[in-house]
Amino acid sequence: VFKARMGLGATRSSGRCPCPWQCSLNWITFKGWVRSVRSQKEVLFLHINDGSSLESLQVVADPSLEKRDLTFGSAVEVQGKLVKSPHKMQNMELQAETIHVVGPCDIWSFPLKMKERHPLEYVRQFPHLRCRNNTLGALLRIRSEATASIHSFFQDNGYVHIHTPIITSNDCEGAGELFQIEAKESVEKSHFFNVPAFLTVSGQLHLEVMAGAFTHVFTFGPTFRAENSQSRRHLAEFYMVEAELSFTESLQDIMQVMEDLFKTVTSTVLSKCPRDVELFHKYVAPAQKVMHVTGKNCNPVIISYSEAVEILKQAPQTFTFKPEWGCDLQTEHEKYLVKHCGEVPVFVVNYPYDLKPFYMRDNEDGPQHTVAAVDLLVPGVGELCGGSLREERLPFLESRLQRYLDLRKFGSVPHGGFGMGFERYLQYILGVDNIKDVIPFPRFSHSCLL
Ligand code: 4AD
Ligand code: MG
Repeated sequence: VFKARMGLGATRSSGRCPCPWQCSLNWITFKGWVRSVRSQKEVLFLHINDGSSLESLQVVADPSLEKRDLTFGSAVEVQGKLVKSPHKMQNMELQAETIHVVGPCDIWSFPLKMKERHPLEYVRQFPHLRCRNNTLGALLRIRSEATASIHSFFQDNGYVHIHTPIITSNDCEGAGELFQIEAKESVEKSHFFNVPAFLTVSGQLHLEVMAGAFTHVFTFGPTFRAENSQSRRHLAEFYMVEAELSFTESLQDIMQVMEDLFKTVTSTVLSKCPRDVELFHKYVAPAQKVMHVTGKNCNPVIISYSEAVEILKQAPQTFTFKPEWGCDLQTEHEKYLVKHCGEVPVFVVNYPYDLKPFYMRDNEDGPQHTVAAVDLLVPGVGELCGGSLREERLPFLESRLQRYLDLRKFGSVPHGGFGMGFERYLQYILGVDNIKDVIPFPRFSHSCLL
């Protein structure tokens, strides 16, 4: 309780309070980084932040404790008595007895400045320091809570967590956006694994294997795509949440899990990190565009791909890519569809057979041939999740793919699943424009800092 209230930087000090009663009550050591120094004639004020929340602890000290290297950005260890603050701004303050500068900070070359709200594009240049910035600090705490909440959501609903491999010999999506891996010091010229090996683009095929023994499985790990894109929603390394459900024959079941996951995780994040989220909604999300991520505004609508194309064809605006049945939905189309539906999440179901990967289930529906696929589009971001029923029928698959087939020979059941891009999720709930600002160390084409 003490740590939760005081932050991670606080420990009860072993020393004795120098008061006449030598009490040890509220006598603490607090460690963190200086956010502000204000020196007055009678008193020295410091604000120290230990990363546990946006709030810094106010330290009051005798001006004699001021030192030259006690500056903004320095790391300090303060011993003193924690008391109720007479100032309205904070609950508690620390009356310092000793202040030890553990690591001084060269403020002239330190790129972050005291009490300045730096733009995200600016702090992005300093991947090794931006975690000390309020916005990135808040983001990283939210990311951590959201991660824990995603795991709890699945565990609470009976899913088994599977560590799907990062090194794989398949190209699940068949889109060819693969990073190939080789041992650096290849003794022979042959492949290390005897076969070409890649960084995973999706854990789906491994989850499908496991869905042959457990009815509900999930994975949540790093995913890699050699997408030659600098766009504000693509990374070369991102985190994907994936779930696979056996014994399901309806896309509705899959959509329900996506929706429940989104609502549960979002309400947990809002209740556990209200101040961190507020920072984004107040200062980061584009003006007048704060995402309403709870309540009625997050109740999704469902339309078919064919309906979506009709809506786009009747749109009063012209698109760079002319909407046509059989063509992929472009970002501009996704944006229009979300707006058309009232800026709420939109499930688009039943895509053309020829647009989607081999594993999606054939709807056997005549000339406009579709598969049981679903994409979830959300305001400001576009595609957040992609999923489908899987083709579990051997003859249907035989015509498409030779591998994957064995799985269908030994107790094959109808199943389906989906993947959600974790960074896009954070972008959406926080209203962050660029995906590079919701991951600690962004990797994208032509950039791999640190
Ligand atoms: O739609 P995708 O490609 O679906 C799959 O990979 C399926 N195998 C998942 C499954 O059914 N198990 O990717 C899923 C989501 C996308 O909707 C998007 O949110 C995110 O992953 N995503 C990316 N996020 C950041 N950068 C990229 N380059 C991304 N590519 C996909
Ligand atoms: Mg997709």
